[in-house]
Amino acid sequence: MGVIWNLLERAACLAVTAVALLECRAGATFNGTPTVLTDQGLIQGFAKNDANVFLGIPFAESTAGQNRWKAPQGLKQSTTAVFDATSYGPSCAQSMSGSSIVAQSEDCLNLNIWTPQNGSNLPVFVYIYGGAMVTGGNSNAQWQGYNFARKDVIYVNVNYRESIYASPYAPELEGQSQNFGILDIEMALKWVHKNIQGFGGDKKRIVLGGHSSGSVHVDHYLWTHPKTFLAGAIEMSANAESGPAIAPSGVALTQVAQDMVAAGVTLNCDASKPTLNCLREVDTYAFQTSNFNSTTNTWFSPIVDNITRFSDYKSRFAAGNYPKSIPLIVGNSDQEGKIFSLVYSSENTDFSKWINTFDADMAHVPDDELLAAYNASDYATVSLMSGASYGDARFFCPTDYLLDIRSNEQPTWAYRWFGNYDNVIGVPGMGSSHGSEVPFFHGGNECFSKLSGVTEAQQALADYMNNWFVAWIKNPSAGPGWGQAKPTNGPLAKLGVPGNELAIETGSTGDYNARCQSVFKPNLPKYPVVQNPVTLAKSS
Ligand SMILES: *[C@@H]1O[C@H](CO)[C@@H](O)[C@H](O)[C@H]1NC(C)=O
Ligand SMILES: *[C@@H]1O[C@H](CO)[C@@H](O)[C@H](O)[C@H]1NC(C)=O
Ligand SMILES: *[C@@H]1O[C@H](CO)[C@@H](O)[C@H](O)[C@H]1NC(C)=O
Ligand SMILES: *[C@@H]1O[C@H](CO)[C@@H](O)[C@H](O)[C@H]1NC(C)=O
Repeated sequence: MGVIWNLLERAACLAVTAVALLECRAGATFNGTPTVLTDQGLIQGFAKNDANVFLGIPFAESTAGQNRWKAPQGLKQSTTAVFDATSYGPSCAQSMSGSSIVAQSEDCLNLNIWTPQNGSNLPVFVYIYGGAMVTGGNSNAQWQGYNFARKDVIYVNVNYRESIYASPYAPELEGQSQNFGILDIEMALKWVHKNIQGFGGDKKRIVLGGHSSGSVHVDHYLWTHPKTFLAGAIEMSANAESGPAIAPSGVALTQVAQDMVAAGVTLNCDASKPTLNCLREVDTYAFQTSNFNSTTNTWFSPIVDNITRFSDYKSRFAAGNYPKSIPLIVGNSDQEGKIFSLVYSSENTDFSKWINTFDADMAHVPDDELLAAYNASDYATVSLMSGASYGDARFFCPTDYLLDIRSNEQPTWAYRWFGNYDNVIGVPGMGSSHGSEVPFFHGGNECFSKLSGVTEAQQALADYMNNWFVAWIKNPSAGPGWGQAKPTNGPLAKLGVPGNELAIETGSTGDYNARCQSVFKPNLPKYPVVQNPVTLAKSS
């Protein structure tokens, strides 16, 4: 520690005694380099585009080897005095395709921080990326914090374990939490709360947000922290009532072990009954059989353990097992499901078959109710109708359902995103599909850097979106500038409406939620349902 204490006086925080640190502010430098002191030593980042940036800061030990399928463990005392935070840390292990994020590793529990170049006690926004609990990483260019930092908000985004590494559903772990991704988020938030002051942040002004499975994680965090320190939360598109379906205990793990053996991997155990210790010996990349790349990676999702995930949210809310007073924004994109009509095109052209697949995640709704609720004459193709049902099941109706439960007592605001640009999702004609709002909430600029053909009008909308969003993060209880939501039917902000982008139009949730109210709401108390993807695949 000697080196650290010698550097201390001129670094981020001025040491008054060996334990008390004062005058923490954003923008502190040591020898001209942005530098912050944390419990794990000095962290050195870089200055860029009016922000100070710290990338790949570990918040927990590696999850590789003997730590695979264990709760995240706090960092051991650092042996190096200075951590070089100038490049992204690894993405968490996953079935990877494409190159939007950096290479994977099981030593992936790291986070990135963007700060203004001056200021203290600043508000903090922590963002959790989406990716269906199977893919993604904090290094995706669409979620960087420059626009927040330029407006005096500290931005943090975090990695978390996914798929088989996050939720193995191993019989030998029953009775304890094996939703390791949820525990990773918990650990990351603890780290931020403990350390953000050194970066110029105020630990009493932390707002948590996420999109898609990141939004599911936001919700899990709320339900497991009735007395949270958070100052606000935003759930973009999804929540704890969103998919995917849950496979029965041991089923997905066994299938992956068998697929590995079939692909030539040697296991020191019986693949029909694999133990976690046996599978801990297997190299990360050996899991990536062609089956894991294409199908089985979606068979691992948080289970209901009554520790980190529950099934009785209505009664938990009534009993006060939830932070009812924190300001919450929830919302969806206008055509959430459209992109999924393509993603699942190999299994969704026969609607009555589709609704019973594992991916559709609609086993809690009786078939006859679903068949009566969707009319093929309303859609150009059956795939598009199936995509719409996916949007309802995973995004719209979970949002609507928990809005009904929470908004009488919790200060809640609802939005719907209409921005319609082909260059965001990268597939023409997808409209305001799932995820198309994310770089706009982030204010574009650097977050648009990997998109082609970005127009001035798009950037103007991104500025507009990020401005109201940042103003809300700075003062969540004041609301985002439109009317508070109500159960069943209430104010809804319409964002990015074509032709009127630089305004927030007022609509009503009741204009959009008829199918959610009549078909899904009565059935959501039964969610989530366990479905066996192996037998479903055989019977299709
Ligand atoms: C940063 O803020 C401190 C405290 O308000 C002030 O003394 C200092 O001049 C500021 N530095 C810059 C570069 O603006
Ligand atoms: C799985 O996907 C990765 C990334 O696309 C690829 O490199 C790898 O070869 C794939 N593995 C198999 C067995 O298909
Ligand atoms: C979780 O709690 C519910 C009742 O709230 C119960 O029905 C269920 O069996 C419990 N599940 C586990 C895994 O403990
Ligand atoms: C589907 O919509 C068409 C056109 O509006 C209508 O004629 C038909 O009766 C509807 N079918 C069902 C089952 O509601």
